[in-house]
Amino acid sequence: MTTPDLSVSLCGIFLRNPLVLASGILGTSAELLERVARCGAGAVTSKSCGPTPRAGHPNPTVLAWGHGLINAVGLSNPGADEEARILRDAKARLAPLGVPLIASIFAETVQGFGEVARKVAEAAPDFIEVNISCPNVEAEFGRPFAADARDAAAVTAVVRRAVSLPVIVKLSPNVPDIAAIARAVESEGADAISAINTLGPGMVIDTDSGKPILANRTGGVSGPAIRPIAVRCVYDVSRAVRVPVIGIGGVACGRDAAEMIMAGATAVGIGTAVYDRGPEVFAAIAEELLAFMATHGYTAVSQMRGLAHDD
Ligand SMILES: Cc1cc2nc3c(=O)[nH]c(=O)nc-3n(C[C@H](O)[C@H](O)[C@H](O)COP(=O)(O)O)c2cc1C
Repeated sequence: MTTPDLSVSLCGIFLRNPLVLASGILGTSAELLERVARCGAGAVTSKSCGPTPRAGHPNPTVLAWGHGLINAVGLSNPGADEEARILRDAKARLAPLGVPLIASIFAETVQGFGEVARKVAEAAPDFIEVNISCPNVEAEFGRPFAADARDAAAVTAVVRRAVSLPVIVKLSPNVPDIAAIARAVESEGADAISAINTLGPGMVIDTDSGKPILANRTGGVSGPAIRPIAVRCVYDVSRAVRVPVIGIGGVACGRDAAEMIMAGATAVGIGTAVYDRGPEVFAAIAEELLAFMATHGYTAVSQMRGLAHDD
């Protein structure tokens, strides 16, 4: 029997397997990005960086509550200038390994996204991922840009004009109609879509003290608890657009990765599972996915893609 082929093409860029390190997980330094690549990831994403350095929220910022994580890291990052240096180093370390680099950015204004994208693009990452799930200070009530199709489209258009790299826009599940947001960003030139960022906000209370555990009180929920929602979002988005989708949310094993691909994903992001199983999770899930494909007679990832859409 032929060994199944795990490789995929994302916007014409070769990934040896569909497993992508999600943003915010071990993506803070060139060394860590290289380590995750050596542990078997098909591509790696840096932690989101903004225009200026940010300390983030006070501890505790991350809690494993039993069925996943809740986090309010607060977008701590060294700012775009320092991030560009980290990304340049990371790119040099990843190039011999053949592992593409996705640079994640955020900003507090529409124009800010363009400025950060331009700075980060100088480091020549393979993709730019636009995290529009952070609070939007230009709009009322601090809503994320991802909450409104026009805001999401405006950010996409600015980044699209700023760089010639493939642009991935990362969507939030915290919207009534994620397909509408996906269509809006595709129409402004997104080359791919990541879905989803964390769900929420949620809250976990320490019942001994009666107080919320996170210093920020609330945070985004990730991990196994959100997987059915992530799968549904990927299904809805991939039905609505023609561009490839990176399916993210609660993937913890090979069968979970297959489920995301069957929902329509081209690649599969992994975040919380790295906390649970260490960076070795990438090689492990790749092995599990291979075994799953061999058992079910799939020889290529594309044979599983979007199966859930067939009537
Ligand atoms: C501790 C932590 C930090 C995160 N930081 C970022 C970030 O900086 N940018 C971003 O786009 N997503 C961030 N995320 C969201 C993840 O990239 C991912 O979309 C989400 O956790 C769902 O995937 P998972 O269930 O596999 O973790 C973060 C998630 C966690 C748990």
